Amino acid sequence: MEVEKVFHMKKGVDHTSYVKNSLLQRTVITRAGPIIDERIREVYITLRPECLMMADMGCSSGPNAFQVVSRIINATDEASRSINRQCPQFGVFLNDLPGNDFNAMFKLLPNLNQDLQEAKGSSCGPCFVSGIPKSFYGRVFPDKFLHFVHSSYSVHWLSQVPRGLMSENGEALNKGNIFIAKTSPPEIHKAYYAQFKRDFTLFLRSRSREMISAGGMVIVLNGSMKSDEPDSILELLGSTLQDMVLEGVIVQEKLDKFNMPVYTPTVEEVRKLVETEGSFALNKLETFTVDWSLDTSQNLETQAKFVAKSIRAVVEPLLETTFTHAVIHDLFLLFEIRVKERIARKRGENLNIVLSMTKKE
Ligand SMILES: C[S@@+](CC[C@H](N)C(=O)[O-])C[C@H]1O[C@@H](n2cnc3c(N)ncnc32)[C@H](O)[C@@H]1O
Repeated sequence: MEVEKVFHMKKGVDHTSYVKNSLLQRTVITRAGPIIDERIREVYITLRPECLMMADMGCSSGPNAFQVVSRIINATDEASRSINRQCPQFGVFLNDLPGNDFNAMFKLLPNLNQDLQEAKGSSCGPCFVSGIPKSFYGRVFPDKFLHFVHSSYSVHWLSQVPRGLMSENGEALNKGNIFIAKTSPPEIHKAYYAQFKRDFTLFLRSRSREMISAGGMVIVLNGSMKSDEPDSILELLGSTLQDMVLEGVIVQEKLDKFNMPVYTPTVEEVRKLVETEGSFALNKLETFTVDWSLDTSQNLETQAKFVAKSIRAVVEPLLETTFTHAVIHDLFLLFEIRVKERIARKRGENLNIVLSMTKKE
């Protein structure tokens, strides 16, 4: 699977699209919001740029990126008022892989400048927004270009499915699973962690070249308490595919060879990688959880539907590399039932890790 060519969230604006099914990610951004405000305030007061250059890495096509941008503009405006300076102009770079639906995103683009004028008068902005289609695992911007970088729910996606998930004679090692699961042998976790370590270090190294000293970065990642046994929703998706193998709908070998390019690190793993890479001072490293369904007061059917639609909007393009549309359709009908059974028995939660960092000298 050529991840950087095939990976994107479900395109368009229909009821299955990421645009319509990204409330979970939006909630995570809101929960991390005070940490974003705090970092941008410190960056602005320290650097006082005339034009604040910011990037959202892995912005996708939903409205979430604009929530982040508005938040950063508001926090900067407040910071500038607090020191009696005029609010700066803003250069906003929305980055994602080339397969991302940038058109859907730009069509949703609110008239930021008009909104800014109405809310704050002519003294704030203007704001210049552009899309940057390129993998964030590598250089995206010139040297010392950015004052602030934000990335939410993106950096746990790997640049490739790890090597090492097959034996030397081509036999699949993670049989019956699509991610690290309770039945995965230990070498599966080792291979996934090795890939995450390479990718995350490259992400930090690339941003460290692109950022101005004392610039700020806030990253939110989907993490886990135990990265070698993450209790992920993807384990449940894998076991649903295995049920379809037993029903004779899917060939076992196809499932055995399919693995997701994602890794959910622990807090200690990310701390160690940031410290080892060495370009950033870690100001904050916090965690919070959100329920898979967000709203546990709803009935179980509604919750299971929400979970299945949210996951489908993210992983369908990856599944399409191996499974037919008919299989994927049936998979998500069955998955909804499996989610309902699972949350009736035991709630599922996403652990979120927030890193707030400052670029060192
Ligand atoms: C779950 S979405 C999160 C999007 C958005 N930040 C939000 O919170 O709604 C993950 C995004 O990361 C992007 N992504 C994954 N790997 C990437 C890479 N190597 N370079 C740039 N974007 C990447 C995906 O294409 C996808 O749009």
